[in-house]
Amino acid sequence: MSIRIDGAAYASNLRKELAIEVAAIKQSTGKIPGLTVVLVGEDPASQVYVRRKGEQAAEVGITSTEHRLPVETSQEELLKLVTQLNADDTVHGILVQLPLPSQIDEKTVLTAISPQKDVDGFHPINVGRLSIGDDCLLPCTPHGSIHLIKSVLGDDLSGLNAVVVGRSNIVGKPMAALLLQESCTVTVVHSRTKEIEKICAQADILIAAVGRPEMINASWIKAGACVIDVGINRIERDGKNKLVGDVDFASASEKAAAVTPVPGGVGPMTIAMLLVNTLTAFKRIEKVS
Ligand code: GUN
Repeated sequence: MSIRIDGAAYASNLRKELAIEVAAIKQSTGKIPGLTVVLVGEDPASQVYVRRKGEQAAEVGITSTEHRLPVETSQEELLKLVTQLNADDTVHGILVQLPLPSQIDEKTVLTAISPQKDVDGFHPINVGRLSIGDDCLLPCTPHGSIHLIKSVLGDDLSGLNAVVVGRSNIVGKPMAALLLQESCTVTVVHSRTKEIEKICAQADILIAAVGRPEMINASWIKAGACVIDVGINRIERDGKNKLVGDVDFASASEKAAAVTPVPGGVGPMTIAMLLVNTLTAFKRIEKVS
């Protein structure tokens, strides 16, 4: 049987460390890091994420504000709010929850956020900096996944075969960039890849980020691999609503050395890394070391 990678416990420890650092900063500077989350519309999953972000920011002493806008909000109105938040000295991190309603162009909005306050790491400037290995605000899910991988394999990942399943801008592409920075041999596979299962079965590190419930089972996994499941899929089973990942956890656990569960794996780490990014943005903006 494999190790169940406890992302919830890892994230909880990270929050404790952050709370100590935030308290020390408050005492020495009199300033408080501030995170603002913008939610347009009433997508139920987004509402849950936004609430958790607010609660956990409060837990570590970061000031958290929410802007909830109606689903019919125009792009112009949203851009106006982003401009206000960019200029607000009490706001160090801005996150616009995705997906946005269809009348709003995601790229335009993400590009309007000040790169210094872009705690999602989605602004093209931060994406570019990541791809050339410059210091930047890193996307939360890939960054959290690297922490979990290192908690199992240690800090040196060099030379390991890493396969990323999925090529999204939010997870797949930045995940590949971070693994490359760790000197892994990185392969990105996707819906058009030939012999996808065979390629995955060569991975020492397998990242599943496709959004297909339990697609990956033991036959896709190399014995002793570290498997990170980024998928969050709501399914109905036995008449009940259930949250499952892209990996069949029970099957994968028979072959892998370590697997993240869903829920309780990558999800909690994503929010913890958002708080880390808010503190990083605060320190850079306020010139605090
Ligand atoms: N929607 C799903 N994941 C994310 C994320 O990491 N950031 C934002 N802003 N929206 C999301």
